[in-house]
Amino acid sequence: MYRTHTCGELRLENCGKEITLAGWVQRVRNLGGMTFVDLRDRYGITQLVFDEHTEAAVRSKADELGREYVIQVTGRVRERSSKNKNIPTGEIEIEVAQLNILNASLTPPFTIEDESDGGDDLRMKYRYLDLRRNPVRNTLILRSKMAHATRTYLNSQDFIEVETPVLIKSTPEGARDFVVPSRMNPGEFYALPQSPQQLKQLLMVAGFDRYYQIVKCFRDEDLRADRQPEFTQIDCEMSFVEQEDVLTMFEGLTRYLFQEIKGVEIGQFPRLSYAEAMQHYGSDKPDIRFGMTIRELTGVVKNKGFQVFDEAEFVGGICVKGCSEYTRKQLDELTNWVKRPQIGAKGMVYLKYNSDGTLKSSVDKFYTPEDLQQWANLFGAKPGDLILVLSGEKNQMRKALGELRLEMGNRLGLRGKETFQPLWVVDFPLLEWDEETQRYYAMHHPFTSPKPEDIALLETNPGEVRANAYDLVINGVEIGGGSVRIFDKELQARMFNLLGFTPEQAEYQFGFLMNAFKFGAPPHAGIAFGFDRLTSMFAGLDSIRDTIAFPKNNSGRDVMMDCPSLISGEQLKELNLKIDIKE
Ligand code: AMO
Repeated sequence: MYRTHTCGELRLENCGKEITLAGWVQRVRNLGGMTFVDLRDRYGITQLVFDEHTEAAVRSKADELGREYVIQVTGRVRERSSKNKNIPTGEIEIEVAQLNILNASLTPPFTIEDESDGGDDLRMKYRYLDLRRNPVRNTLILRSKMAHATRTYLNSQDFIEVETPVLIKSTPEGARDFVVPSRMNPGEFYALPQSPQQLKQLLMVAGFDRYYQIVKCFRDEDLRADRQPEFTQIDCEMSFVEQEDVLTMFEGLTRYLFQEIKGVEIGQFPRLSYAEAMQHYGSDKPDIRFGMTIRELTGVVKNKGFQVFDEAEFVGGICVKGCSEYTRKQLDELTNWVKRPQIGAKGMVYLKYNSDGTLKSSVDKFYTPEDLQQWANLFGAKPGDLILVLSGEKNQMRKALGELRLEMGNRLGLRGKETFQPLWVVDFPLLEWDEETQRYYAMHHPFTSPKPEDIALLETNPGEVRANAYDLVINGVEIGGGSVRIFDKELQARMFNLLGFTPEQAEYQFGFLMNAFKFGAPPHAGIAFGFDRLTSMFAGLDSIRDTIAFPKNNSGRDVMMDCPSLISGEQLKELNLKIDIKE
């Protein structure tokens, strides 16, 4: 038997007991007469002591130990004279009688501590060492618990877990596909699924009624803190349901996870239409834990001689509570912040509602105190508040104000990591116009159903058609998205037509689905949660990277395996691939 206990287990009541532990050497402190070793495993840290009672041969072996050596020790549990209240095993230590060095270790390139001295790149290169650190390991343990709780909930609701293939047909909608060449079918390729969307719809045609899968998805897109090229979804589909049924079921899952895993009771899930979200928050994934909503000023600021506002399609702002004392320097810094290309404002106008009730703006030249009071009233501002105003193209400025709102929320500490406010954003537009390619794209995916009352607009005013599509948003993060599906092959054909597919192209790409719909497709709807995002929110992390055991870096590389990598000429030949690589 390698061990009788783990390194996190022994307490005062075990004193006097003979035990065997195994683990990694966290730290060695040699104090001349005595050597202390912190022994670590997944469960905790236990202090080992080598002193005058230890056999000389064992003590000299202890002198060989270095960080991260793997050892096995046998000894007796005893009470510590100086206790460490910070760890659960801090009241005891092990008087070592036998030491067995199971494996030596090189000195690790960074410290295996909660706060490591290793930079990101180094930690990723030696990810297996990084994973020995508590915070990273704890996140993966949390992830495992969340997956378990998800299965428990969905199983209790009669969902069936089905695995769908990873080698599927390429569909040129959404993100770019990762493709895999087929050796047995020269010149042909599989794609890795961006999601099992069409397969889960086929499972509904097959009568599975309720499907789920915790599934890897692959998207060849630019990476950000909340995006990885391979990520995991809690993917679900239900038959004979309407939007309301799906929302209720997945509110249930969300509540269950928060309660089981975090012990947090979630209140109401408000709903906002996409149009309202954009109007009030400048975002389709608003953080509604704080107000500071966007108000439009276009109607009240024009024709006062201020050319910038006169020429703007949209003038709007946010009211930041209690910030009227911002200094010139702070306002200049904020102005530079909104002028960054990511935000894209040309400048910023401010209005201070001073605590003495006077109003001071950066455009006093053009506006009377009465004008300014009118602005302040529009925001419901109070003395002590600061109003920040941007102007320009409507959609762009709404988004810019949305970003500014989040930034101010962060600065004022209104976006803590331990308060959670989910909401549903509903009634998304069905289609999105792309200037570059001069065509419509499906905002969600081509299988999303238009709202019945908007179907008549499909050919006349496609941009106005709303979809039965919904996103679950928590604290400003899009956690999940789904829709009611088209299950009528005629409507699906109209949709493909709108998206610019000829009937032949639609048949080539999606023929299998269209065919299936000829054999009695039930009404169905579904949703997928981003499991990495949900885990990172539960863990209080800013990026999803540490929720994934072996993630990719920002260039999509696995720096530990050093891939993607070249393959041999032989492999290329077998796959019928010719690649000209420039030296
Ligand atoms: P969608 O594309 O909205 O919907 O994806 C669902 C959820 O998956 C997460 N997500 C990601 N997480 C990490 N890295 C990524 N690159 C990434 N891309 C998406 C998000 C998102 O809300 N088939 C549909 C679902 C459906 O209609 O049922 C789909 O995939 O949290």
